Amino acid sequence: AVERTLSIIKPDAVRKNVIGAILSRFEGAGLRIAAAKMLHLSREDAGGFYAVHEARPFYGELCDFMSSGPVLILVLEGEGAIAKNRDLMGATNPKDAAAGTIRADFADSIDANAVHGSDGAETAAWEIAYFFGQREIFRAES
Ligand code: CMP
Repeated sequence: AVERTLSIIKPDAVRKNVIGAILSRFEGAGLRIAAAKMLHLSREDAGGFYAVHEARPFYGELCDFMSSGPVLILVLEGEGAIAKNRDLMGATNPKDAAAGTIRADFADSIDANAVHGSDGAETAAWEIAYFFGQREIFRAES
């Protein structure tokens, strides 16, 4: 089925000037960019987005990192978009990420791991609504 998923190009990847290289991976895999915005998240923005991880020991550092510089937030749309995006990203820890994945090629550490992607349909819907209004998301015209 055609799905939508939320992707974030994280501050480390923006700093490295690899936004375009990462977008090309998505487009090359048949995903379309249905929405995009660049934001410098406040610590509160980041904390709310990652509220599900609030009790985890890495929560504080994660929020500090995600608010350390601008990010590019995307809605990706396409057949099986949620799983496809996760395949493209590779494992959360770049040390475990398969060769040729975004995290293997661009990430430095488990925190500075280049990209975020929704992990399921329910999460995707919640994450998309956290950042985008209906009028900011565009249906693919292919
Ligand atoms: P992301 O997909 O954005 O979701 C939560 C983030 O927390 C994750 O990527 C990592 O960057 C970060 N993180 C830091 N430590 C851990 C950990 N031990 N397990 C999972 N995620 C972690």
